[in-house]
This record gives sequence, structure tokens and C-alpha cells, in this order.
Amino acid sequence: MTVVERVDTLIVGSGHGGAQAAICLRQNGFAGSILILTRDRHLPYERPPLSKEYLRGDKPFERILLRPPAFWSERGIAFRLSANVTDVLPDEHVAVLSDGTRIAYGDLVWAAGGEPRMLACPGAELNGIHAVRARDDLDQLRDELAVGPRRICVVGGGYIGLEAAAVLRKLGHTVTLVEAEPRLLSRVAGEELSEFFLTEHRAQGVTVLLSSKVEALRGENGRVAAVCLTGGEEIPCDLVVVGIGIVPSVGPLMAAGAAGADGVDVDEFCRTNLDHVFAIGDCAAHANPFADGKVIRLESVQNANDMASVAAKAICGDPQPYRAVPWFWSNQYDLKLQTVGLSSGYDTTVLRGDPVARSFCVIYLKEGRVIALDCVNATRDYAQGRRLVEARAQIDPARLVDTSIPLKELL
Ligand code: APR
Repeated sequence: MTVVERVDTLIVGSGHGGAQAAICLRQNGFAGSILILTRDRHLPYERPPLSKEYLRGDKPFERILLRPPAFWSERGIAFRLSANVTDVLPDEHVAVLSDGTRIAYGDLVWAAGGEPRMLACPGAELNGIHAVRARDDLDQLRDELAVGPRRICVVGGGYIGLEAAAVLRKLGHTVTLVEAEPRLLSRVAGEELSEFFLTEHRAQGVTVLLSSKVEALRGENGRVAAVCLTGGEEIPCDLVVVGIGIVPSVGPLMAAGAAGADGVDVDEFCRTNLDHVFAIGDCAAHANPFADGKVIRLESVQNANDMASVAAKAICGDPQPYRAVPWFWSNQYDLKLQTVGLSSGYDTTVLRGDPVARSFCVIYLKEGRVIALDCVNATRDYAQGRRLVEARAQIDPARLVDTSIPLKELL
């Protein structure tokens, strides 16, 4: 069969990981051809503002582009937008696109991220149901909001649901948030933080329903009109915003024989078990040193960028293992949350500062050692706490709570 094209490094996905992989390759002196192939219709853009400034209308799309368009062409980084890889042929080093095009690669960097998980209940096909993941999702949502004040049901109390709820509320819409678990942010944060954000959102006028499962969506004339919960309660609404996580986009790799149960498994150099195939970002399952070596996927800009750098260095013949400290942020109302480390597996928490004063941090300990901090309006503690996480510092909790002692002095 004919190979239509050949590139030295083929990058699949144009999110933070894919874009950064191309940037890092050039920074490391990679002189070969680079092609970024993506389902997206747009050049790479920042995703975190989508559920914040972009939804609010405070930042035009041009201002969230990761780089100006000329940046890519000046560095010889080519794009194929609106393109979909259907198959990877690992023995031939070929990726096949849905239009039948075959692209032979020297190295393949799989940075395809994930698709937003959508509701799978009766009524899920109705109009007026929105994801929050890509620019086009947000443009559709914004078009609907332009009509006037809406009754919105947000499904999912993770960061996406909470950030969207905060913006929608500020824009003057009526917002009900439905979370399946008994607390908000249960996947990623401890109870103190869940409790704090619950109080804040309720104070801002969001109706938050916990332990609530969506059974069906009821429609009128093909459009969603209500969210029906398992207990029988109905939430009348004009539209639904869904933030219930992502499903890693790894189908073609798995079909090609890649290992992995949740996402695709990679080693410390971001290599999959397929020859010359790397995977990075949201879809890459890796043994993370900040999770005691447990195999996890990390859905964050930090992880995408740092893994991109690891893959690029390996491709350039200078392999460096992935050891980056995890960090993340979320803005809701006037609250700036910054997290460092991974809290899962903690056995003790220490509250430093005062949630009522809206400036505090939750410090997570495991066997007496600091493993993570969630800081709300506490940037100095965040910056200084990072070193405690890096060192897995063993510090007396009585000293951690004492806000008169800067965290850097505790190391
Ligand atoms: N009904 C209600 N809640 C649900 C349902 C459901 N059917 N299914 C899941 N949830 C809840 C989960 O309990 C969880 O609290 O939705 C929340 C989803 O949270 P996350 O998995 O953290 O996903 P999300 O908030 O969508 O974030 C996805 O965006 O913030 C970025 O990088 C981050 O990749 C992440 C992505």
C-alpha cells in the first residue's frame, strides 16, 4: 500500500501536551520534520480558560492561543487540523487517517487526551446538553447563553462543573449543580476543601445537590427540559452542562497492541510498549513518584507539559525520567485555588489559616510526611509548600498550623 507521507515525528493531538512536545523538540535541537495531527479545527489553545475567562467572555479566542500562528510555521511545525487517526500499524510505523491517508513516522507521540464523558441515560441525545472541553463546546454554550437568563443544570461537581457553575452564576443564570458523590471534588481533594467549596457555591446562590444521580433527561420538542434524579426529583432547566470527567482517547493504540487498562501505559520516559510510540498527558498511565509509584493518569496542564518535555528529550537521544512535582489550579469567583503534590492516600490533614477568612491551605500528610497542599488565596504557602512536598518533609503538625511561621522555615 502506498505511503502518502512520511514525517520524522508525528504528534497526535494538539492540546497542551501535543503542542509542547513540538516546542520542546525544537528547543532540544530536533531538526527533523514535525507534523501535529488533530481532530480540533483550531491551532493549539489553552484549555483552562475555557471554563473560566472564555466562558465569561472576558478573553477572545486569539488571547488563549498557545502561540501566535506564525510561531509554528517559523519553526517548521506543520499541522493537519480536523484529522482523525483510526489505526496505528506499529510494525510498519504508520498511522492511518479516517480519509485513508497513511502517514509513516519515525517516532509517534500520542497526545490525544480524552473525550468528555457524557451522560448515558435516556434523553442523552436531546439538544441543549453541553460539554466543557474544547473551544467549539464553549462557543455552542455561549451562543445559548446569549438568549438571556437561563435555568442551567450542571452535572458533576469536579473542577469543570464548579468552575462552570461559578461563571454561569456570575453571568446571572440560575444554576443547579448535581453531584453523584456525597461531597464535591471527591476524586481530587480532601473533605475540608469539599466543604469549603460547597459553602461558597451555596452562598453564591448555586443550588448544590449531593449524592444525586441522574436517571434521565426529559425533553420537549427535542430539547432538554428537565433533569430527572433517581429519587424522583425533577430539575426543570433550559440547558445542561456536563462535567463528569473524561474518557482517555487511546482506541487506535489499544487496537494496535498497546498495554493499559485506563489510558495507555508508559514508562518513565513516556514510552509505550509499541516501538517508537510515546504517550503523554491525560491519556498516559504512569508510575508517579508523587503517588508512591502508583500507576495513575494525571489530568493537568503541568503533566501534559512536563511529559511533553520528557518525550521530546527521549526522541532527541537525551532520555530523562519523569519526576515532575504535580501542580494544578482552579479559579472560582474570587477564589484562587492552587494545589501541589497529590493528596490521594493521605492519612492526616492539617488546616493552616482560616476558611472563614477565605485564605487557608489544607496540608495533606501521609505517615507524618507532607505529600500535598491545597491552597486557597494563599499563594505564598503554595510556593513555599512545594518544597515541603518535594522533600516529603516530616514536620510537626503543630508547627504547620502556625501561620506566623513561613512554610519555608519549616524545612
Ligand atoms: N452525575 C453526577 N455527577 C457525576 C456523574 C453523574 N452521572 N458522573 C460523575 N460525576 C461526578 C464525579 O463524582 C466527580 O465529582 O463528576 C465529577 C467529575 O469530576 P472529574 O472526574 O474531576 O472531571 P471534570 O471536573 O469533568 O474534569 C475533567 O478538566 O479540570 C480539568 O484537567 C481536569 O481533566 C480534568 C478535566
